[in-house]
Amino acid sequence: MAKVLVTYFSLTGNTEKIAEAIHGSIGQDKVILPMDKVEDMGSYSLIFIGFPVQSHSLPYKAEVFLKKVPAGKKIALFSTHGSLPGIRLSREALEYASILVAKAKLLGTFACRGKVSMQALEVLSRSPEHEAWADMAASASTHPDAHDIADARAFAKWVLTMSAHGLY
Ligand SMILES: Cc1cc2nc3c(=O)[nH]c(=O)nc-3n(C[C@H](O)[C@H](O)[C@H](O)COP(=O)(O)O)c2cc1C
Repeated sequence: MAKVLVTYFSLTGNTEKIAEAIHGSIGQDKVILPMDKVEDMGSYSLIFIGFPVQSHSLPYKAEVFLKKVPAGKKIALFSTHGSLPGIRLSREALEYASILVAKAKLLGTFACRGKVSMQALEVLSRSPEHEAWADMAASASTHPDAHDIADARAFAKWVLTMSAHGLY
């Protein structure tokens, strides 16, 4: 069976943890690499691509990477964010990413919360317009937790099943 790639960009380690959970749940030939170490996407049958939400969007390196995904490639996206789930702030990076890979075959998306670094929280809480966001983000401090990891593994298995049976 062809090889699966799990690749990610992670500034403080949260997205990397989710990438490792996804990688650990793949029972076939697989590789895990940070985005800047991926040389050729063409040799993989399926690619899981992960990134954190930064400043309401994607980190620039993730944006550049997503723009290079070959047309027709089977992919799944995952993301971590400090905001509460479901609100616009935590959705828009994945929504934008989905547009960037419009020519690929997007099998699914996954998102969970990730603790915001103390440094980032400290900087944000200094400006009034960011203070409310910093309060909300503070409750992400225990994430990704065991439930997030279990959800990420279940997501990966579901994507692999979809991929194996051509259900996309
Ligand atoms: C510079 C910076 C900007 C951030 N901006 C947002 C944001 O706009 N929305 C959000 O939900 N989380 C934001 N976060 C929180 C991160 O998305 C969250 O902590 C994520 O889990 C970090 O993943 P990483 O450890 O893989 O880098 C930001 C964090 C940093 C450091």
